[in-house]
Amino acid sequence: MKINRAVSTGVIAVVLIAASFGLYKSLAPKGGADPDDGRQVALGEQLYRAHCASCHGVNLEGQADWRTRNADGTLKPPPHDETGHTWHHPDRLLFDYTKQGGGPTAPPGFTSAMPGFAGTLSDAETWAVLAFIKSRWPQAIRDRQRQIDGRSR
Ligand code: HEC
Repeated sequence: MKINRAVSTGVIAVVLIAASFGLYKSLAPKGGADPDDGRQVALGEQLYRAHCASCHGVNLEGQADWRTRNADGTLKPPPHDETGHTWHHPDRLLFDYTKQGGGPTAPPGFTSAMPGFAGTLSDAETWAVLAFIKSRWPQAIRDRQRQIDGRSR
């Protein structure tokens, strides 16, 4: 009977691990920016206008001449539409950059002019802004960004 007990202990252990993994997954912050989710996009649009448009442009067009650095070495806010490089990045990076700002990821010698929104936007609101940004991309660009995002996971 020893073997049976060992087997059933093993089975129980596997079940417990599976259950706690399921729990972990359900407790993990739900995230994601879905440009086809009308409610998420509508919320994101409001928040974008309130918090991002002043720098990145009402139509996501960025600042004129955004590729040229300022005299102090900082960058100008780039566009978030398909002419910029936002869609070159996976979702997680866009989320972190918005939440933390450019400071934490800036290489030595580079001063980021992108503020972090951790104290202003909740995680869900941050994802909503990104959903709105994505919703403004043509389908082909959305598809390419989804591939880039998939490769990073
Ligand atoms: C005070 C001006 C300012 C505001 C407001 C601002 N940004 Fe930025 N943002 C910048 C600048 C400047 C950069 C260029 C990179 C840097 O300096 O770190 C940037 C870069 C970014 C990037 C990385 C570059 C890219 O295109 O992938 C993302 C993502 C971003 N901003 C998202 C947002 C979002 C979302 C909001 C609103 C919640 C926002 N920003 C509000 C100035 C701003």
